[in-house]
Amino acid sequence: MGQPSHARTPDQWWRSAVIHQVYVRSFADGDGDGTGDLAGVRARLPYLAELGVDALWFTPWYLSPLKDGGYDVADYRAIDPAFGTLAEAEKLIAEARELGIRTIVDVVPNHVSDQHVWFRQALAGGPERALFHFRPGRGARGELPPNGWRSQFGGPAWTRVADGDWYLHLFAPEQPDLNWAHPAVRREHEDILRFWFERGVAGVRIDSAALLVKDPRLPDFTEGRDPHPYVDRDELHDIYRAWRAIADEYGGVFVGEVWLPDAERFARYLRPDELHTAFNFSFMTCPWEATRLRTSIDETLAEHAPVGAPATWVLCNHDVTRTVTRYGRDDTAFDFATKAFGTPTDLALGTRRARAAALLSLALPGSVYLYQGEELGLPEAEIPVERIQDPMHFRSGGADPGRDGCRVPLPWAAEEPYAGFGSRAEPWLPQPAGWSSYAVDRQARDPGSMLTLYREAIRIRPVFGDGPLTWLPTPDGVLAFTRAEGVLCVVNLADTPADLPAHTELLLGSAPLDADGRLPKDTAVWLRA
Ligand code: NOJ
Repeated sequence: MGQPSHARTPDQWWRSAVIHQVYVRSFADGDGDGTGDLAGVRARLPYLAELGVDALWFTPWYLSPLKDGGYDVADYRAIDPAFGTLAEAEKLIAEARELGIRTIVDVVPNHVSDQHVWFRQALAGGPERALFHFRPGRGARGELPPNGWRSQFGGPAWTRVADGDWYLHLFAPEQPDLNWAHPAVRREHEDILRFWFERGVAGVRIDSAALLVKDPRLPDFTEGRDPHPYVDRDELHDIYRAWRAIADEYGGVFVGEVWLPDAERFARYLRPDELHTAFNFSFMTCPWEATRLRTSIDETLAEHAPVGAPATWVLCNHDVTRTVTRYGRDDTAFDFATKAFGTPTDLALGTRRARAAALLSLALPGSVYLYQGEELGLPEAEIPVERIQDPMHFRSGGADPGRDGCRVPLPWAAEEPYAGFGSRAEPWLPQPAGWSSYAVDRQARDPGSMLTLYREAIRIRPVFGDGPLTWLPTPDGVLAFTRAEGVLCVVNLADTPADLPAHTELLLGSAPLDADGRLPKDTAVWLRA
């Protein structure tokens, strides 16, 4: 593949970084109250440095009623008191930087919390109404929502207020959508970006990046008719060009949450004067099948090449089924629509594949996102229904298990209460039985653990250099590629063991070779040619 090569200069760090996603609420509990916090993260920075990651992406840590895990922001310039203070966040950013780790914050421009001052003033009848999408209802008495749009969490995308008007929320009712046609909304977000860049953050993740702009007529959505009334509208590019100019003043970078099936439309967000990177959801949702993975990799590289943007490689995040669980199921793809309680899972198989997938993704050209606990091989937990907090569960009428199963507080120390998460009382989400067997302290001593594999892989990964990817001829079901420096990655997804290409050294393997020196099923190796 002919994607351009980019030297790993310090200011281009994001082109090949390993970025660790921190879900603060579940990372480590510094004050023992059952909820993870910034003190917990600060205490664990040495762990993250030892893991070898280049940057941390923090899911929203702002003041929030936590109706959607913090993606309902009441004040973008304040840290939620459950997590800490702004002064602590500043210290955390600086301490991480001293360890060579950059910080990425999560900005949520599509919506705010219903507790945000703007929305409260809007409800009180103030001019702030114009900052949201308020409309009269349809029907004789306005009893029907203004249009038929559905919330991404299920149910109508409209809620009626006391005076009879309705407001739009593409997510939960506690997350009213902002009106991006209003100049004050643009000004406010440009100011928020500056606020965080001034505090030393190196990057910003943009939540729901393709949803901000709505057709002002708010027409009903008609399948197949372009443009969509609220997905991927052309006006968005203006917004991101203005954001890019701000980021450039600070040397900051963006990663967009852009879920779009159309590769060409997706790549538009990555033009040189827009976002630096975007999450690769095609790879993240791809099943564990050689042909599908190769196609996903090829398409990813092909769509990024013309705009000169680096690819990102993602196996999971705080919204989707954890990797070892997904790969241990009959259907190894990810799809929100097919999530169900009680799906049979072979965790040993899933873990074996997740180990191979780790070596695959860390060998590809671009940056890699690692969701906290992925390096521990944590499985998706089945949360007892009465403990579920995720609005996706409630708005599906209880059919969807929701996303809490991948948000369970981390196990740090096997012998301590709550696996060393740090809480004195039960953590905000229950840890399943056996959680302590995944604890960091146990895995750190085990040469065969997932943690040891990730540490080794991240340490060795620079041997791949920054050259382009070239596929090598292989039997069906086997993926093999090399990068410019003559290091190879080989992954066997076929049912039978595979012969390895000629090599001088085995650098790292996700599992041992068989007795004949062949690569077993669901195994990956890195070789020096
Ligand atoms: C995407 C975030 O990743 C998800 O957790 C959140 O619920 C929605 N955006 C709404 O902000």
